[in-house]
Amino acid sequence: MDVFDEVRKREFARLDDTGQTYLDFTGAGLAPRLLIDGHHDRNLHGVFGNPHSENPSSRASTDLVEHARAAVLRFFNADPDEYAVVFTPNATGACRLVGEAYPFRLGARLVMLLDDHNSVNGIREFAKARGAHVRYVPLRPGDLRADGVQVRAALPRRRHSPSLFVYPAQSNFTGVQHPLEWITLAQRRGYDVLLDAAAFVPANELDLAAVKPDFVPVSWYKVFGYPTGVGCLIARRTALARLRRPWFAGGTIKAVSALGGWHVLSPDESAFEDGTLNFLAIPDVAEGVEWIAELGMDRIHAHVTSLTARLLDGLGALRHGTGRPMIRLYGPRGVRRRGGTVAFNVLGADGRIVDERLVARDTAAHGISVRTGCFCNPGAGEAAFGIELPLLRAAARTRARTLDEYLDRLGLPTGGAIRASLGVASNTADVDRLLLFLADTYRDRSPAPTGLAPRKHC
Ligand SMILES: Cc1ncc(COP(=O)(O)O)c(C=O)c1O
Repeated sequence: MDVFDEVRKREFARLDDTGQTYLDFTGAGLAPRLLIDGHHDRNLHGVFGNPHSENPSSRASTDLVEHARAAVLRFFNADPDEYAVVFTPNATGACRLVGEAYPFRLGARLVMLLDDHNSVNGIREFAKARGAHVRYVPLRPGDLRADGVQVRAALPRRRHSPSLFVYPAQSNFTGVQHPLEWITLAQRRGYDVLLDAAAFVPANELDLAAVKPDFVPVSWYKVFGYPTGVGCLIARRTALARLRRPWFAGGTIKAVSALGGWHVLSPDESAFEDGTLNFLAIPDVAEGVEWIAELGMDRIHAHVTSLTARLLDGLGALRHGTGRPMIRLYGPRGVRRRGGTVAFNVLGADGRIVDERLVARDTAAHGISVRTGCFCNPGAGEAAFGIELPLLRAAARTRARTLDEYLDRLGLPTGGAIRASLGVASNTADVDRLLLFLADTYRDRSPAPTGLAPRKHC
């Protein structure tokens, strides 16, 4: 038996016991049984109090939180003198910490990729509010990668104004892996770099001794499913020192006066950890990264890559009786420089896109979990559907009452795509079940989008 077959049987038996096909690993990883058991045992037998004091239960919590901090640094091969780990609720929380505290000002520059997740896109509002210039690098039609020449052009040398380049190591829409070499390129030109690693780290090694982004947001439930509600900002200590927090809170301060109106923030990462940490769940992160290390990230990567190749080949081979393709794929067709996230639409026998709400309904009826919609990545969607800026501006000028009305104005054939994504718990049977379902349900058919509820949100 292959090691991943054993893992499937031991840690994820519930998938086969319940007959579910889970293909949404970019949405969330699945919790292995050992993490749930570990959490249960630890909290059943240990006494853990609020970490902000010195009593024994508090000390026990603090020790486990600090152990998890060290485990995260080891996971990324990061030097503790160079990098700090800030615990956050999720990757979004990590992005907000940077956005709200980055010293944007008139003359500063924020450079983004059209492939950014909305949790990163939101940083632009902090930048705009403080007069910084915001610039997006477009994606090429077809493979939906960004062109290195355009990235370089968007990063003119900066000497005095603080400037930030933010991009995803892996797209949560197409699975495209953007070059990590852009980190040094941008830094040499005077930029801080926020590398959004949320979709990358579940199946790829990020070695912070080899590449040195200034800020790295991650969500742990995406890597090993459990716990939810715990993420990290892994940040270079020098970059963290340049941030200016707009407030303070319990846990973040060294000293404060209520009447005097002054405060001094903690000199280390705790200045960024607002209030009481999730001290009962953070220790699970240490167990999670140890489990991944035991399995070996290189093996997980190879496993996910081989399943992705099977999925891509299978989707490409799906044809109607006429020979017309059944699938329109978004992003790269091969597995080179891409992860296990595959976005596509189903094409009917008439060549038109089958409404993604129909596919959502049909997959759900077959116990298949895929993601449908626009996946919080509007830029990649706009690039995939070839929507030009003037049309987007015109559509925004007249306020649409509903999302469907907005999509109509853009002349879009549908409201989004379907995303299947693979992870450590996936196997070939999951991939084959999706392919068989697509062939059985849509081959030689052109299903009409009748009886569908209006789209409520993107
Ligand atoms: C690339 C990327 N960045 C950021 C996020 C935000 O993660 P979270 O919702 O856990 O904060 C996601 C979530 O899907 C993502 O895929």
